Amino acid sequence: MRLDRYLSQVTELSRSESRQLIRAGRVSVDGLAIAQPAHHVDRRAEILLDDRRLERPLPRYYMVNKPAGVVCATQDPSHRTILDLLDLERSDTLHIAGRLDIDATGLVLVTDDGQWSHRITSPARRCGKTYLVALKHPLKESQAATLRQGVSLRNESKPTRPADLQMVDETHLRLTITEGRYHQVKRMFGAVGNRVIGLHRESIGSLTLDQHLSPGDCRALTQQEVDCF
Ligand code: URA
Repeated sequence: MRLDRYLSQVTELSRSESRQLIRAGRVSVDGLAIAQPAHHVDRRAEILLDDRRLERPLPRYYMVNKPAGVVCATQDPSHRTILDLLDLERSDTLHIAGRLDIDATGLVLVTDDGQWSHRITSPARRCGKTYLVALKHPLKESQAATLRQGVSLRNESKPTRPADLQMVDETHLRLTITEGRYHQVKRMFGAVGNRVIGLHRESIGSLTLDQHLSPGDCRALTQQEVDCF
């Protein structure tokens, strides 16, 4: 993270005030005075402002039961955002670990720990996301077989990775995928001639949405839940 950003996050200073102090030579990183606001600092660096050590707040982790109509964005001019639901201090430091569409519901994770969210969202990690999917038309066994194997999406060269698909009834199923391509679930069913009319994320990896959270509610993760990833 940039030094000026770090300073503004751990103090009451604005970004421009932080830049001024850094340029004035009042900030040191691991014992060296640093006058460049863009200097990169990592979490473990010892950062002093006028000989006062700056303590970084502990990382934060939340689960949200996203209702329909709320957007997975940090700001939006016309809709409520996930961060509006959380209503926390320093919300500008938080980000979403795996977005859901505006009409989708269920488990969303929010954090300020970039390495943790990378473990969830990086395709290389193959972290499974399980969705309860409602379809417009009954799903044929041949379509289910294609989806399980991997399906070609429009304008993409690689087919989707093999998916786990368990029928609940002829128009409802549980789907687990290990990628997070743009509108992936809707596009997968579109590719086999069906249509998603309801999408609810139940779990990410081994972390399942807390049944006690009503739509719109959120809570901090326990340490054990954080350690799932
Ligand atoms: N796939 C979609 O199509 N939409 C989502 O919100 C998540 C996965």
